[in-house]
Amino acid sequence: MVMRELDRLGIPYRSGVGGHGIVAEIVGSGSGPVVALRADMDALPIEEETGLDYASERPGLMHACGHDAHTAMLLGAAELLHAINDQHALPGSVRLLFQPAEEINAGAKAMMKDGALDGVDELYGLHNLPTLSAGKVATRQGPLMGSVDRIEITLEGRGGHGAIPDQTIDPIVCAAAIIQSLQSIVSRELSPFDPVVVTIGSLSSGHANNVIPQYAKMTGTVRTFNPVVQAELPERIERIVHHIAEGHRCKARLDYIAQVPVLVNHAEQNRAAEAVIDGLIGKEAREEARPTLAGEDFSVFLRETPGCFFWLGSGPAENAESAYGLHHPKFTLNEQCLPLGAALLAEIAAQRLSALSG
Ligand code: NI
Repeated sequence: MVMRELDRLGIPYRSGVGGHGIVAEIVGSGSGPVVALRADMDALPIEEETGLDYASERPGLMHACGHDAHTAMLLGAAELLHAINDQHALPGSVRLLFQPAEEINAGAKAMMKDGALDGVDELYGLHNLPTLSAGKVATRQGPLMGSVDRIEITLEGRGGHGAIPDQTIDPIVCAAAIIQSLQSIVSRELSPFDPVVVTIGSLSSGHANNVIPQYAKMTGTVRTFNPVVQAELPERIERIVHHIAEGHRCKARLDYIAQVPVLVNHAEQNRAAEAVIDGLIGKEAREEARPTLAGEDFSVFLRETPGCFFWLGSGPAENAESAYGLHHPKFTLNEQCLPLGAALLAEIAAQRLSALSG
């Protein structure tokens, strides 16, 4: 659908970038700067419960994070910018990044590997936020969203009869001790002023009530808000896992998989985006974003290229705080946010091209 719309507008693009990504370019005056705008496109493995007449027709799949809206807004911005760019009037080019696989923290990396950011001077993007009324925007200087790392822990004991534990090495008791102790990283090793989450989200071991199993496996997610703290966490987790396993006579293996860094907005680009937002919707409609440890792989782009990411209100006009949140099966989006998001992206790109080209 994205390609069909770009064809309709006459905007050239490259498809299959980093998998299912599409990179389009609105080419203004030849040697000018390049500003990129990015929208993610992917859905989630959630059964939709909104009851809307345009609800997902695919069982077990739903646009519960509103990435379809992000795609629509970037297409809207493309149409606006394409109209402004008559006779190559833009003082540079706007690159449009339609990104797949954000939810599995893979798309941004894959697109960058495929050259999506080559030659880009600055990069901007947004995410809808249903707990903020449509018409409002939330921005934040510096860190906005957390890093995302994945941990996988495998314990090997010695299986045996549930009634004769002395002839076994029980990996379940060991797993329980590790789960408890990992929480002391947050409560006892790190400053309370450095937010960190260590969550063990899955634990699987054994099949029978009277058998001590050979293995226990755990997977978890680790979130931080400070790149220095993130860098220290593998060692801290490794130490606890291995020493507690040793104390319980188990063999332990930890796989620590760094997925996305902390999303840190760049000062100059954040200020510039805020100025455009204030100009379009008024200062009173913009607020300071609350930090969150939810992750977003836009941070992978921001590590390489200066830019800014912000929240676009997509909630109801009244009581937005109690709206269903992102990733909820009843998540809905106030479509009044769509034209505003498109206009903000287009205006940010146009103004930054002017500023960068002097
Ligand atoms: Ni999302």
